[in-house]
Amino acid sequence: MDMLKQAILQKGVVLSDGVLKVDSFLNHQIDPILQVEIGSEFANRFEKNEITKILTIESSGIAPALTTAIKLNVPVVFARKKKSLTLSSNLLTAKVYSFTKNETNEITVSRDFIVEGDKVLIIDDFLANGEAALGLASLVEQTKATVSGIGIVIEKSFQPGRKKLEGAGYRVESLARIASLENNTVRFVEELIV
Ligand code: G4P
Ligand code: NA
Ligand code: NA
Repeated sequence: MDMLKQAILQKGVVLSDGVLKVDSFLNHQIDPILQVEIGSEFANRFEKNEITKILTIESSGIAPALTTAIKLNVPVVFARKKKSLTLSSNLLTAKVYSFTKNETNEITVSRDFIVEGDKVLIIDDFLANGEAALGLASLVEQTKATVSGIGIVIEKSFQPGRKKLEGAGYRVESLARIASLENNTVRFVEELIV
């Protein structure tokens, strides 16, 4: 996705060999035009899958999930990281370990919104170790709904997330795949193909 790659190259900040800061257009300030393009691209890639629902996790997954949901004309549900005051029973839960934060959080979604027959597209902003996406998939697997695929805005291909998700049998579509952040430089996976 050219517009996304341009934004990463022009506005992304390499914080270390492992971390890319994209606060100016994705994770804090949000570029709405780019998000609409992201939604169109995910919708194109999954248009034949008869998706009935988008599942993401708060907070940075919500924007691309919403633009995708508008294109596919389906609802979007976001998993919560903190228990909601009004959302207390009838919950699906999964434990998500964060390597970056070295802590385990419980994510939750109401059973009312992932139901039998749902074909769920999981969307998230980053794929690193894959723990968040696996947690989301686990929520779906606990019901009679199906995971139809996983859409990722930025994949860090040098981390094990994609391998774990594919190993679990899921189709992964990432709009930007980063091969390396070494030497303060973003290199995309495609650039390595000769
Ligand atoms: P994992 O789910 O793939 O295992 O990821 P990990 O625990 O390593 O990541 C924890 C948080 O850090 C997630 O956001 C994830 O999106 C984000 N993250 C991981 N690598 C990068 C990176 O290189 N750059 C940026 N900007 N974010 C990264 P979160 O805590 O759930 O936050 P948010 O969705 O509320 O923004
Ligand atoms: Na996220
Ligand atoms: Na994030």
